[in-house]
Amino acid sequence: MSEIMDRIIEENSRENRRTLIGGMFSRVRQYDVTALEVRGRQIRVTPDHWVTDFASCNYLGLDLDPEMTATVAESIDRWGVHPSWCRLVASPELYVELEERLAKLVGTEAALILPTVTLISIGVIPALVGKNGVLLLDKSGHETMYEAAKIARDNGATLASFVQGDLDRLATLLDQHRANPRKVILVDGVYSMTGDHADLHELLRLAAEYHAVVYVDDAHGFGVVGENPSTATPFGQRGNGIVRHLGLDYDNVLYVGGCSKAYSSLAAFVACSKKMQTFIKTFATPYDLSGPSPTASLATLWSGLDINDSRGDVLRERLWKLTDHAARGIRELGYRIDNRTGFPILSVEIGDPDMLATAANHLFDAGILVTTCPYPMVARGQDVLRLTLTAANTDAEVDHLIAAFSGLRELLGGNITADALPA
Ligand SMILES: Cc1ncc(COP(=O)(O)O)c(C=O)c1O
Repeated sequence: MSEIMDRIIEENSRENRRTLIGGMFSRVRQYDVTALEVRGRQIRVTPDHWVTDFASCNYLGLDLDPEMTATVAESIDRWGVHPSWCRLVASPELYVELEERLAKLVGTEAALILPTVTLISIGVIPALVGKNGVLLLDKSGHETMYEAAKIARDNGATLASFVQGDLDRLATLLDQHRANPRKVILVDGVYSMTGDHADLHELLRLAAEYHAVVYVDDAHGFGVVGENPSTATPFGQRGNGIVRHLGLDYDNVLYVGGCSKAYSSLAAFVACSKKMQTFIKTFATPYDLSGPSPTASLATLWSGLDINDSRGDVLRERLWKLTDHAARGIRELGYRIDNRTGFPILSVEIGDPDMLATAANHLFDAGILVTTCPYPMVARGQDVLRLTLTAANTDAEVDHLIAAFSGLRELLGGNITADALPA
């Protein structure tokens, strides 16, 4: 590599806010793992070391489902491996059919698919606020939404932020910009570190009062939570996302669902009115100038929606039970997990970066793959190991997970936060 390249890397390593992750990168064996073989949720990572996967967001466990894999070859025969048009020019009919199906599932007039939630945010958020609009960003919202907001700011929009749930501050900001006709509140539907739900009831009330719209990034919630939750089925029915889960409508909402998690398919969609769909087609750069989802992902999304119709609620029930089993077992060991909803994201608090690296390596050696999250993924000093469960995990794998955390407790000498939250 050239000296010029080396210099660029060194300068960035010194000043970039990701320095801490950079420092952890070489110390944590859980990063940059190469999967040599996959059998269910068992992953072979070296010739003789297998780990159980608690790091994938493959919530419904569809990645190896025979109904999913069987569909790919036929679709490729029909459409080719990749529709290499940008969507502005042309799309296989499968796109249009999927968009209609997604819109029907979540309950909007229309939907528009792009390959990822990130591309939707980068395309849609700057398009919505134009040169003079205002973005009000939830600080716990996903980093990709923040990056998109910075692009909008670069175009002239105003960017302000509020702490998750600080609705007084949000109301003050909305009031300050009362006269501006383009106000967009940016939140996650289900938060990616805690499984918490955004307080959409209050956010929508404020949005209506101040004539703003709410952009909801539901990368995690789509496929996992749905309408009509009850005590027996707290995840609801049909997996049609957080807005339906909370019994709300889409009057002032742009709902963004991700399919690369629950549906194991490289696609994402924005659900909206037909008028907004046309607006996005003409104003969002990734629709006009970027490549589309590959055929295999469109095919598996279609099959995933079939599976959702036939057995999605059974998979979600299983997922909730496994998550409850894991959360109880780990909390009983004295660890703190900030999860009030039962959603299959369990962030186990570890503390500082040194303990985090030690803990991550211990679990990896004990055969557990997790997501290691130091600052800036989380607040400073609140480093966590994030576990994500899938319906394809087994009870024995969860028992193994709990046993590994028990071993870790011995290693850390009981040096863990012991005030577990009530479930
Ligand atoms: C809340 C949230 N939004 C967006 C993304 C990015 O999604 P995508 O991979 O579809 O760009 C993620 C990824 O994990 C996420 O957790």
